[in-house]
Amino acid sequence: MPTFPVNQIRSEFPWLAEHAAGRIAADNAATSLKPRTVIEAVARYLGEYSGNIHRGHHALSEQASAAYEGSRHTLARFLGARRAEIVFVRGTTEAINLVAAGVGLQAGDNVVATVLEHHSNLLPWSARCQLRLAPLDEQGLPDLAAAERLIDARTRMVTVTACSNVTGVQVPVRAWADMAHRHGLPVLVDAAQSLAHTAIDVAALDCDFLAASGHKALGPPGAGLLYGKREALERLTPLLFGGGAVGKVDLDGSFELRDVPWRFEAGTPDIAAVIGLGAAIEMLDQIGMDAIADHETTLGRALDELVATIPELAVVTVGPGLARAPLLCVRPRDASMSAEVLARVLADSFGVLTRAGHHCAHPLHQALGIGPTLRISLAFYTTVDDVETIAAALRSALRRRS
Ligand code: ALA
Repeated sequence: MPTFPVNQIRSEFPWLAEHAAGRIAADNAATSLKPRTVIEAVARYLGEYSGNIHRGHHALSEQASAAYEGSRHTLARFLGARRAEIVFVRGTTEAINLVAAGVGLQAGDNVVATVLEHHSNLLPWSARCQLRLAPLDEQGLPDLAAAERLIDARTRMVTVTACSNVTGVQVPVRAWADMAHRHGLPVLVDAAQSLAHTAIDVAALDCDFLAASGHKALGPPGAGLLYGKREALERLTPLLFGGGAVGKVDLDGSFELRDVPWRFEAGTPDIAAVIGLGAAIEMLDQIGMDAIADHETTLGRALDELVATIPELAVVTVGPGLARAPLLCVRPRDASMSAEVLARVLADSFGVLTRAGHHCAHPLHQALGIGPTLRISLAFYTTVDDVETIAAALRSALRRRS
């Protein structure tokens, strides 16, 4: 197997190449670093052809429209979807809200989700109907059989994360789609933590909807996507109405919506961010998602092994054979040091940038019976040396206190 060209990849990220100054980015599950190609794509749009899309009969608008629709083509190819099935939204939260608001939930309806979910895949549902959460099994995967038992005549949707932002566990979502479909229900997959880590093929997953954010996958904040099977999108009521989403409006106010996906993109979107997202996905595609996943598996193993040698830390674990994104949550065993203080010490004294807290996953922390954790989250531009430095910093930060 060819060696993963991590040093060459790192040279393409201005922060790593020019600004890191001894610091290590270990909060990549919150947002990724951005490569030069993305920054340049955004700057080119803003500086060289800043027209609005689908509206002008002139070169700026035509170039902007072509680049914007080019991103849709790139995303569709990357996910194994058709272009009409990719809706640009601000991010995962907006994508899930669009579906939750648009499927016609009524009082008394319910949605089946799991305790593993991020708040963004809980609140859009619980604000509108009853939410039923499947527990974890003894391995740390959401319990599919338990989820199936929660389904009744008023269930309208099954939803599950493809990858936990707390345990990193990767969920076999195809089995969830098969289970939902046996009951005649659609399934929505939250892929916020997957887009930059594993290949996604929506046809193979057979999901009805899939939501993801660009900013966690090298893209700028402000552009993410909702994938929907064409027939599922056609049944969905838009969240926003306005210019760009309609073909015709009459004096009496009646209107005809445009075809999918444009009917969901009312108003001027974040054109620059969508173009940047296209450049981000092209970079991931060029490196190759299998190569990225292999490198990240090596990083994840190194992190697990090194952290296991630090007795002062309790680790949030899952079953040993389960596939995981390269992230790990830990807690100091000594309750006098909080995860938040440890994160601050790591950042200020050792240049290791992590996240601490509940990671927008309060129900999961409650289910696990734990308080705030410190999360170390890596990316394909992380090196094994970085992982060793992170472990050494953890050891020093904890022992400095004792
Ligand atoms: N959802 C992001 C995280 O897990 C912000 O950190």
